[in-house]
Amino acid sequence: MNIGIIKNTQGPLVGLTPVTIKKFVADGHAVMVESGAGSSSFITDQQYEAAGAHLASKEEVLSNSQLLFVSHELSEQELDLPGSATVICGLLDPYNNPGFLEKLKNTDLLPFTLEFLPRTSIAQSMDTLSSMASLAGYKAVIAAADRLPGYFPMLTTAAGTVPPAKVLVLGAGVAGLQAIATAKRLGAQVEAFDVRKAVKEEVESLGGRFIEVAGSTDDSYAGGYAVEQSEDYKLKQKQLIHEKAIKADVIITTANVPGKKAPILIEKASIDEMQAGSVIIDLAAASGGNCEGTVDNREVITGGVTILGDSSLAYKLPREASKLYSNNLYNFSKHLLKNGVDKIDFDDKIAGDTFVGSRQQIP
Ligand code: NAI
Repeated sequence: MNIGIIKNTQGPLVGLTPVTIKKFVADGHAVMVESGAGSSSFITDQQYEAAGAHLASKEEVLSNSQLLFVSHELSEQELDLPGSATVICGLLDPYNNPGFLEKLKNTDLLPFTLEFLPRTSIAQSMDTLSSMASLAGYKAVIAAADRLPGYFPMLTTAAGTVPPAKVLVLGAGVAGLQAIATAKRLGAQVEAFDVRKAVKEEVESLGGRFIEVAGSTDDSYAGGYAVEQSEDYKLKQKQLIHEKAIKADVIITTANVPGKKAPILIEKASIDEMQAGSVIIDLAAASGGNCEGTVDNREVITGGVTILGDSSLAYKLPREASKLYSNNLYNFSKHLLKNGVDKIDFDDKIAGDTFVGSRQQIP
């Protein structure tokens, strides 16, 4: 099979790293790489060649690949180049860019998007959203520490004792748990809240304190996703989060509900009572934010409180992000194409959930 990657013109993520290319080559495949494709992730053309890839122009890669890994919207001209039944996989941004999916449906290509991967054990090694969330959770704490006019760990000196920073993490999924672990490593006092009761143990095992709100709706059948809660629960949750928020030095919010607007968890009234110099990092910014006043991709200061809205913090660690993405794509394509590129089993849960072409496109 001919596999290709082209340069991502809209971000640093690159589909394959040299390590993964070596694995594809060892599996008997040929890999073509657009020259310069890895530059934003600090991978040189020479490293790709040494791994066994052929360097080519973007047009050559697009026209000659049977499997293309992409991580940005392709232009009309780029979409015209691949042959029919070319498999396209990657992060195709279905929630924010449905127009691109519509365009893909009008081609002969077979598009698969990793945002729709089911949350099953077998799919874990393919889960790019988890890979990115984990990097973002770490980077959120580093970004907060960098902005906080104070210190994270407790410090006892002859001049007096500095208390540890109080960090509040809202949403204890993949990003939240990594944020808790990172903040603890830096010596902060960490509290966390999530509507899913199941995460209590995980939060505590990382040294965080889980904030409990009584009366939550059972979420054990929701496949790892949050479920809608009752009005009474939401009221209690709001009050408790307000009490915790106004005492926090740092708040990291990660509460996403896939495909929907993010819930507002920090209201302006709480921000107004927070101490000047406190920092909020809102990882749900791209879907509206968990905090009133979040502006996506901007840093704003409200009453002395810094609010950074950034859902792409993982991409500020491009080398690591591309490494994990590349591993996820390798595992995904190995599963998807186990019987060959022309024998995809569309009844398979992973293939079926991630396929975003139209039924007529299936050969
Ligand atoms: P996510 O990005 O969809 O949401 C982040 C967190 O926000 C979740 O923990 C969610 O419960 C929480 N949240 C949503 N609404 C909230 C609200 N109103 N207030 C407070 N918190 C709220 O979730 P993520 O991090 O992608 O995954 C969540 C869980 O799913 C993981 O911890 C993991 O257990 C499971 N998972 C399993 C996978 C697999 O088995 N393949 C892959 C990915 C996740």
